[in-house]
Amino acid sequence: MKFVFGNFKMNGSLNKIGDYVDSLNELSPDILEKVCVFFPFPFFGFLGDCRFKYGAQDCSFAESGAYTGDTSPILLKECNCDYVLIGHSERRKHHHEDGKTILQKTVAAVKAGLKPVVCIGETIEEKENRFEVLRHQLSIFTPREEKVVLDNLIIAYEPVWAIGSGVIPTKEEIRGTCEFISEDMIKVIGKKVSVLYGGSVNETNATEILGIENLDGVLIGKASLYPTEFKKIALISQEY
Ligand code: PGA
Repeated sequence: MKFVFGNFKMNGSLNKIGDYVDSLNELSPDILEKVCVFFPFPFFGFLGDCRFKYGAQDCSFAESGAYTGDTSPILLKECNCDYVLIGHSERRKHHHEDGKTILQKTVAAVKAGLKPVVCIGETIEEKENRFEVLRHQLSIFTPREEKVVLDNLIIAYEPVWAIGSGVIPTKEEIRGTCEFISEDMIKVIGKKVSVLYGGSVNETNATEILGIENLDGVLIGKASLYPTEFKKIALISQEY
């Protein structure tokens, strides 16, 4: 089964989170092992008997200290987070996160015991040159990084133009781009990393996307807010 990850973004409410968790908990334990939802920070104290993995949408590069508004990866681990999203295009855009910050956050996350899901992707203007753009975004990772960092890395390929737009790349484009990412990482760090696709994944296109051989899973925004739809995608993923 491939990974099925959900990104709540700045959505959801504490009123409804209990029902959401109960609904996802109905999936079988082997499916829940591969499901992770990235919730807003305040949710972590209210997840109750949550049987699937969960994570945060960002973390600080620092362990503690004078960083008003930021959240320590160590605290996230204490909240039982397994994963953390890093460098989502919305963070790059609204918080001007650059490669240096994204690398620092990735290292801090791994040191705290979290698995970082580092997001990369091109804008519509960059689509034709996407390999160059993605190469540049990936160039933050080098063999100089500690092995534990490279061993835990997951890359989410999310074309910025596909996020929330209902428009997705062709199957061939996703396959080719994932192959590029995998080969690039093998060349640079000498090992295969898991690659996810994100951007307008829903129950209708999930079969086609999850069927792409060299893809390790999906990162889902809007459709992850609806437990019935999200569960359908998880069930589809079980086939692969
Ligand atoms: P979307 O978002 O599925 O709503 O397009 C994906 C994401 O931003 O991670």
